[in-house]
Amino acid sequence: MPDHSSVDAGFAGGGVNAELQFTIKPSGRTVTGSPSRTYAEVLIRHATSVPMDCGSMGTCGKCKIRFLSQAPEPSSADVRLLTAEDLSAGWRLACQQHVEAHAVIEIPESTDHLPTESTAAISLRAESLHPGVEPFEVVLQPPVRGTSESSEQALLSALGEHCLCSLETMRSLSERPRGQSVTFAGVRRGDRILDLRPGNDPGEVLGLAIDIGTTTLAVHLFDLLQGKMRASEVDFNPQRAVGADIISRIGYVREHAQVGLQYLQQTIVDGLNALIYRVCESAHVSIGDIYRTVIAGNPTMLHLLAGISPVGIDHSPYTAVFLNSMTVAPKDIGLQAHPAAEALFLPGISSYVGADIVAGMLATSLGGGGRTELLVDVGTNGEVVLAADGRLMACSTAAGPAFEGATIRDGMGAVAGAIEDVVIDGDLIQCSTIGGLPPKGICGTGLIGAVHELLKAGIIDSTGRLIRGRGALSKRSSSEGKESHFVLVDGAFPVSIYQQDIRAFQLGKAAIRAGIDTLLHSVGVAPQELDRVYVAGAFGTHLQPARALGTGLLPMIRQERIHAVGNTSAQGAAFVLLDERLRADTDALAQRVKFIDLGSSSEFAHRYIDQMAFAKI
Ligand code: FES
Repeated sequence: MPDHSSVDAGFAGGGVNAELQFTIKPSGRTVTGSPSRTYAEVLIRHATSVPMDCGSMGTCGKCKIRFLSQAPEPSSADVRLLTAEDLSAGWRLACQQHVEAHAVIEIPESTDHLPTESTAAISLRAESLHPGVEPFEVVLQPPVRGTSESSEQALLSALGEHCLCSLETMRSLSERPRGQSVTFAGVRRGDRILDLRPGNDPGEVLGLAIDIGTTTLAVHLFDLLQGKMRASEVDFNPQRAVGADIISRIGYVREHAQVGLQYLQQTIVDGLNALIYRVCESAHVSIGDIYRTVIAGNPTMLHLLAGISPVGIDHSPYTAVFLNSMTVAPKDIGLQAHPAAEALFLPGISSYVGADIVAGMLATSLGGGGRTELLVDVGTNGEVVLAADGRLMACSTAAGPAFEGATIRDGMGAVAGAIEDVVIDGDLIQCSTIGGLPPKGICGTGLIGAVHELLKAGIIDSTGRLIRGRGALSKRSSSEGKESHFVLVDGAFPVSIYQQDIRAFQLGKAAIRAGIDTLLHSVGVAPQELDRVYVAGAFGTHLQPARALGTGLLPMIRQERIHAVGNTSAQGAAFVLLDERLRADTDALAQRVKFIDLGSSSEFAHRYIDQMAFAKI
């Protein structure tokens, strides 16, 4: 585990540690990092994905990089987890080696990619454009000798109403010429003047919709006057260096107290600011023109962004410090924006059903028109919301990281080169990958596709046990070493499904399905009565409904009622950004939802055990 006993210069700004430069192959990029940091930490912060299932504990062996020159001494974890051939070829664990100057490293091609996200669904309903900030123009007459009227008073009198002026406004007023009338253009929010500029161009009026996921960060830049998305960027959450799920992040804060909290807050702010720079650069606009930011995310992520300890969230009675919506000044938490901008944290429902789900309910109009609907967000935690008979019920269930490709032996995130679906046709196996690249690993939807096809082919039995297939497929089954596995892809980068992967899948699908069934049972609704099921998140983007039904992840309903809706958290944040009146709607939604605690539900416990098994396909 890397030592974070102090927040160092490399990431916190200022300090004593000089940055060292190293080169990444095959891209040839050079990056810098503090020698007190591991390669894994530095790579993540430079938009390079390194699988880190164990959060730098040195137990998963996933974060392999190869030193093309001057390979450092192997650590004890390197020796334990890598083969002798790997070690002599220069492979080491990125989480165990600290940055050295002039190193040249190679990372497996499949990991040098960014996460992908569909932003097509973020669109504005034109009639709902009401961002709450607006440009204005005002003409100030020259000061009159003998009066004591200040420039601020002259501005308010020209506007004909009482307003509050930001510091930036006062600074602009100091440029008011003495002997002539002058035109100023500005941006205001209600009775608060946010900015003022000489001339009649107020500049751009921009806003950000931000989704903070445990795995990925998404930032979408909008023109608030046109209601158009100008740019969008997604990247991995750099906090992954301390663990794949929220429990490890909270554990990190508990273990390292204030310094740990400060470190995780700084990493998430740095990650978001990097994306904010990127969206502004790509839209050719200034960060100083961002006046509003709306943020959605799970409660732990929002606590960490705000610099508030989340340690009450992971143990009984599972108490968050805040759940209601909250407005802060971006500069108070270190986020880039105009100095007088505001950032709105959307409200959550419980310590494990957060603003990301409330935003998703808003984006899907869940239960609107009296429909009976289900929203399922599959991540390391699975959140489920049911709308039925005018009621809203929610639960959260520990799905584990298998659906995000973590903890899977040959698993990886939903990035280019990941197997996203598998089809077995007779003796033939076809694996389709994200981006059409050669397969390098398998992501969550690929896993569900593989399990579905292996069930159909009789290679997984109803208990989840891998058994030898027939004919040519039998050659792909192996129990070499300690564990049975089935080879999906042979060759230089073989990809297999292992027995433990199927167990991880069973645990995750049983948790989500039992959560769904418990909610349906609590209101007496049969699955066939569901008008729609929305599957949100990156997992939902690539999910094929037939796979979800066949493996039992979702209850049996007609396939056309299942809708993959992408990142509804970011969509909901964008809706509130473009129509500030929807803040009240999200507050009301969060209040209306009844949270069902599955930990104390015997109904859930029974269903969970039942759902571990697979039905015959
Ligand atoms: S061994 Fe490095 S992240 Fe697990």
